[in-house]
Amino acid sequence: MNRPAGPAGGSAPRQLAVYVHWPYCTAICPYCDFNVYRARGADSTSLLQAILTDLAGWRSITGARPVSSIFFGGGTPSLMAPSEVAAVIEAVDRLFGLEAGAEISLEANPSDAEAARFAGLRAAGVERLSLGIQALDDASLRALGRFHSADEAVRAARLARSLFPRLSVDLIYARHRQTRDDWRAELGAALALEPDHISPYQLTIEAGTAYERAVRRGVIVPADDDLGADLYLITQDVLEAAGFEAYEVSNHAQGAAARSVHNIAYWTSQDWIGVGPGAHGRLGAGAGRLATTAALRPVDYIAGVAATGTGTAEREVLDEDGARDEFWLMGLRFADGADPALAPGAPLAATALATARDAGLVWTRPGRVGLTPAGRLLANRVIADLLLAEAGASLPG
Ligand SMILES: C[S@@+](CC[C@H](N)C(=O)[O-])C[C@H]1O[C@@H](n2cnc3c(N)ncnc32)[C@H](O)[C@@H]1O
Ligand code: SF4
Repeated sequence: MNRPAGPAGGSAPRQLAVYVHWPYCTAICPYCDFNVYRARGADSTSLLQAILTDLAGWRSITGARPVSSIFFGGGTPSLMAPSEVAAVIEAVDRLFGLEAGAEISLEANPSDAEAARFAGLRAAGVERLSLGIQALDDASLRALGRFHSADEAVRAARLARSLFPRLSVDLIYARHRQTRDDWRAELGAALALEPDHISPYQLTIEAGTAYERAVRRGVIVPADDDLGADLYLITQDVLEAAGFEAYEVSNHAQGAAARSVHNIAYWTSQDWIGVGPGAHGRLGAGAGRLATTAALRPVDYIAGVAATGTGTAEREVLDEDGARDEFWLMGLRFADGADPALAPGAPLAATALATARDAGLVWTRPGRVGLTPAGRLLANRVIADLLLAEAGASLPG
């Protein structure tokens, strides 16, 4: 494997984060296009073994580097036995060394069955639970094809609040026939659960999902663009009034300590390794940054690790353009913005930046560039315009 490039500009040492993908779910939600598989009959023991072996393989590439965060994502990692989660955390600590106070997050579904594992997950070392509530009324949960009720979600959130030092909740908005008033009330109900972090995601109709077919048939009617934009602005207003900072387009934290260290590692182009089926990783800075993807299907991932000691199925060394696009795509969404001095490739065009700044879409200050709240509403378009503009003069540092 290619050795990744060293730290950007020889500055502060790069962080190392670990993403663990657990691909199994009790049932597949009709809107979801993550790399997921039905849990029934799945062999979790061989997947766990493969993940542990894959971690050891990564250790021989990165060397011993302290890990700042572990994120168990999915899929549904709350289906893992607490002893399986503990084994992964122990392996990361033994192989790499966990930083003191490292963030250890796990995504959980709020069913009663999973809530029964919360105490065990806390004892295993999880300190931040990310609870997929999605909606807080039964009709909406049914329309989303979820298998938990609103009461179960509230019970799970209360239990999680009592067990974990940090609690994040995921919500989906712009749902079937959702009104502005519905959403305001629902945000209020979510705040009453006292999370310190909220991730409200606008419903995306993903190609090839059951939801895409239902929308085509008119069975599901998601918000149109105007309503979607209003719901986004309501989100910002309600959460800001409740003391939550929008530190990224879909991430709101109650104070700096509630920001996700792991997500910030992505947005600031740090290093992370990805283990588990379909997990992505990034190592090194600038052109020469290594991008890896693990085999998608659990059976292929397990076989790949058994045969070669690594689950990585694809590895690509990013060229300058690829590294540049990724740096800005991730960094501009972060509330603290990105540092142009660390950006690979051609600088952003000064004229395009000035145009976006004059339109109130982008802010600049010495050593940082970021999107304004208005720019976040149009994030994809604003970033694409900046990346595609011909670089003339660079932004003054
Ligand atoms: C990978 S899922 C895992 C969480 C967990 N399995 C659950 O469903 O609660 C992470 C989050 O992505 C969001 N999500 C998934 N599909 C989405 C879609 N099509 N549109 C918007 N948000 C989506 C949901 O809020 C979900 O909680
Ligand atoms: S939304 Fe969560 S539970 Fe539903 S299929 Fe996707 S990962 Fe699984």
